[in-house]
Amino acid sequence: SSNAMWGGRFAAGPDAIMEAINASIGFDRRLAKQDIDGSRAHAAMLAAQGIITDSDANAIREGLLTVLSEIESDTFPWRVELEDIHMNVEARLKEIVGEPAGRLHTGRSRNDQVAVDFRLWVRDQCDAADGALKALIEALIGQAEEGADWVMPGFTHLQVAQPVTWGHHMMAYVEMFARDRARFADARARMNESPLGAAALAGTSFPLDRQMTAEALGFDRPTANSLDAVAARDFALEYLGAASICAMHLSRLAEELVIWSSAQFRFVAMSDRWSTGSSIMPQKRNPDAAELLRAKIGRIFGANVALMTIMKGLPLTYSKDMQEDKEQTFDAADSLMLGLAAMTGMVADMKGRPDDLRVAAAMGFSTATDLADWLVRELGLPFRDAHHITGALVSMAEENGCDLPELSLDQMQSVHAGITTAIFDVLGVDNSVASRTSYGGTAPVNVRAQIARWKKDLS
Ligand code: ARG
Repeated sequence: SSNAMWGGRFAAGPDAIMEAINASIGFDRRLAKQDIDGSRAHAAMLAAQGIITDSDANAIREGLLTVLSEIESDTFPWRVELEDIHMNVEARLKEIVGEPAGRLHTGRSRNDQVAVDFRLWVRDQCDAADGALKALIEALIGQAEEGADWVMPGFTHLQVAQPVTWGHHMMAYVEMFARDRARFADARARMNESPLGAAALAGTSFPLDRQMTAEALGFDRPTANSLDAVAARDFALEYLGAASICAMHLSRLAEELVIWSSAQFRFVAMSDRWSTGSSIMPQKRNPDAAELLRAKIGRIFGANVALMTIMKGLPLTYSKDMQEDKEQTFDAADSLMLGLAAMTGMVADMKGRPDDLRVAAAMGFSTATDLADWLVRELGLPFRDAHHITGALVSMAEENGCDLPELSLDQMQSVHAGITTAIFDVLGVDNSVASRTSYGGTAPVNVRAQIARWKKDLS
């Protein structure tokens, strides 16, 4: 049979495959709450403007609340032949309240309707990501407080570079995730304009009050151009962009947890709650949650690229291609929220191993820079010369199979006569990190100040 919504000019119903490719109800039912909120705002405005009667508006409002409760209690009769959430809700409303339901769509199109629903949904996701990021930041700060002065190796190229502190490393991620929060907040602020009332694409001859519906839905203002209102999806792309960058940060941390929990590193013990065993190797404790998180990031990047690709060839304004925006974004948002929750749990529950960290911190001649700095400071050598002398001392230590502090004073003086026993003070890892008091440096005193600043910021 032909469609009840637009069947006027159609004699036959769609092919079954057509229905399968066309229908979005399988996924866009997640917009039910937003769709009903949007319709309630629209109906109230139509009545306030005298476009429909108050009694019609009341019937619509009551009916929509019934629809919502049916959806929430899982008794709603979803119908794939009604394509999408908008037509499912409206058709059911008609069954419940009769004729007034037909007046709801006055001065509106599914094009502005889906745009407003999706904006509301993505806006909620910005808020959800913000809350989850705050929890993750708090967990990282907890770790930083615990190990503000635990010494560990800092790496470049994954080669030992200089000693740093556990707390400093944790606070580095706090900076990243705080910027992620700011990116979601920026995206949210820019997307917070209401497309409702743009109608199909050109606006409408009905005297709509777009300011009123914008306000009712928590938007700052209506969008200024009706073509843009129905054609734009950059709000979702900004969300996916922010989500992708945040996901990249999550993935780097996940990668570190995988490396750090290995027998070769032993930097951290992951909690049983976030690990699994092996069915054959009894000793195994695998960091599965971190690995899966690292992998799920691909879905988020994928959604970002998919939506960019969907949008890039579309002439203004709406094309049905845009229906594919939702499944991608839903999946990315689910992956992001799951990833944030898993990471927060892993970070909160993990136990750094300060003794192993300290041993690792001293390996690989990690205080060679401190030695070179000492030659500059105490003997007045140019840094390049000091670098060269230190390099000679490192290869001497390497030949002797020992660490820098284990070289004798005689051996040191054979490379540079001016070296005194005072040099041994700077070769220890604690002195090394304690000396890094430059702004933003790794000294425990700095780390504690960063922690205090962030805690104040968060409260
Ligand atoms: N299900 C559609 C979507 O998600 C709603 C808008 C349809 N508009 C239209 N003119 N066919 O994009």
